[in-house]
Amino acid sequence: MKTISLRKATINDKALVVDFDYNLDKVEHVELRREEKITKAISDEECFIILADNRAVGFVIFDYRFFDQGWIELIVIEEKYRGKGIGVQAMDLICHQCKTNKVFTSTNSSNTQMQKALTKVGFSFAGKINGLDDGDPELFYYKKTDNKKTKH
Ligand SMILES: CC(C)(COP(=O)(O)OP(=O)(O)OC[C@H]1O[C@@H](n2cnc3c(N)ncnc32)[C@H](O)[C@@H]1OP(=O)(O)O)[C@@H](O)C(=O)NCCC(=O)NCCS
Repeated sequence: MKTISLRKATINDKALVVDFDYNLDKVEHVELRREEKITKAISDEECFIILADNRAVGFVIFDYRFFDQGWIELIVIEEKYRGKGIGVQAMDLICHQCKTNKVFTSTNSSNTQMQKALTKVGFSFAGKINGLDDGDPELFYYKKTDNKKTKH
């Protein structure tokens, strides 16, 4: 089993993260100005490289913008490394490093991979929001971290 770890991304990782995101969805990457968002997340120290045996296989953007709770904004594993347990372990690491006692995230109804991965990490369904993506409601999930520290 590979050793999974997280490393805070630096500006030197920008091209790598942009590449992961571009390969995920080229249209969204451009239309949603994801390069700008990635650059900001890196400079705000909210972007983490996911390493499998020290090889970069994806990234996760994690912040506290959702009602001051831990919030997984986006997690992406490079396609050839998906389905090997890496996403589950990376989200588990995020939950451990979270400074609040709950982590929230959301995904589309159509994204069954993410829903399965979240269930495996121990996330519970929190609710559904219609109207964001037409015909594909956003499902919210949360997990208690047992971490009693405050954010600051
Ligand atoms: C969603 C994602 C982060 C999950 O990470 P992952 O490393 O692939 O997930 P894991 O290998 O830890 O798998 C967890 C479960 O998801 C399901 N799953 C993951 N990849 C799968 C695949 N390619 N095909 C079918 N099921 C899959 C499996 O049920 C798996 O459980 P199992 O081990 O019992 O089979 C990853 O698939 C990904 O990057 N997807 C594209 C980007 C995305 O949708 N991000 C989430 C939106 S915020």
